[in-house]
Amino acid sequence: MKRAIIIGATSGIGRGMAERLIKEGWQVAITGRRIAALTEMQEKYSAERVIIAEMDVRKAEAADTLEQLLSTFGTPDLFLYSAGIGWQNRELVPDVELSMVATNCEGMVRIIDHIFNHAKQAHIDPKKPMQVAVITSVAGTKGLGSAPAYSATKKMQSTYVSALSQLARMEKVPVRFSDIRPGFVATEILNPDKKYPMVMTCEQAVNHIQRGLRRGKRIIIFDWRFKLLVLFWRLIPRPIWERVTFIKN
Ligand SMILES: NC(=O)c1ccc[n+]([C@@H]2O[C@H](COP(=O)([O-])OP(=O)(O)OC[C@H]3O[C@@H](n4cnc5c(N)ncnc54)[C@H](OP(=O)(O)O)[C@@H]3O)[C@@H](O)[C@H]2O)c1
Repeated sequence: MKRAIIIGATSGIGRGMAERLIKEGWQVAITGRRIAALTEMQEKYSAERVIIAEMDVRKAEAADTLEQLLSTFGTPDLFLYSAGIGWQNRELVPDVELSMVATNCEGMVRIIDHIFNHAKQAHIDPKKPMQVAVITSVAGTKGLGSAPAYSATKKMQSTYVSALSQLARMEKVPVRFSDIRPGFVATEILNPDKKYPMVMTCEQAVNHIQRGLRRGKRIIIFDWRFKLLVLFWRLIPRPIWERVTFIKN
């Protein structure tokens, strides 16, 4: 039975991935702050197939919780980091900006570094490296005026994954990284009062992620419309980009 640990699986993409893997016969360990949602998943499937752990990635104890999980669950085949928060914040409300930094940057570093160091001393067959995937975003492609911290934290996540991917080779750590960059997906992170273009369902997102992970892709951008958008954005020179004022989302 293959095993996955998913950080941030109480809703949205993380939960969608957990349910898909369970249905495909995997054993999963899932985390999040909402214990009721974790328990519901365990009751829906079984305590044998779904291991749960309450975890707030912003807290230092999150690393201890992960360590405990690894000691009982073992080294997973797939480690998926899906925890994240995001808001637009044109008013630059400090707590809003800083909470995104705490969850998306500090939280991710805490957890991903822990799993990286675990992989260093776990007896993983180098021919079957652990797959470590982080859900970042296409929003990390450019600084977005309406969502400064969100776009910047997503860029930081992508850069961090790239750095660790290089470090894994330097230190011969049997880990293969993937940076998953979705466009808009209909989950709780989207503001229900806003209209978003080109929104995908969670199921579609899970299909794209699974396909990319099976192929061992380093960077997974979806869907094709967002691939094109990212390509186009990258071609826009910075002085022109910074004069673009009509982007709403
Ligand atoms: N949906 C989109 O359009 C979209 C697009 C691009 C990228 N993404 C990225 O995809 C990832 C997943 O988001 P989603 O769309 O699936 O939204 P979601 O439904 O809100 O899921 C976010 C998950 O993160 C967990 N989480 C948040 N803060 C946490 C904390 N401090 N400690 C532990 N877990 C925490 C939540 O669990 P608890 O609340 O139970 O803690 C939840 O399980 C995020 O990184 C997001 O930025 C989403």
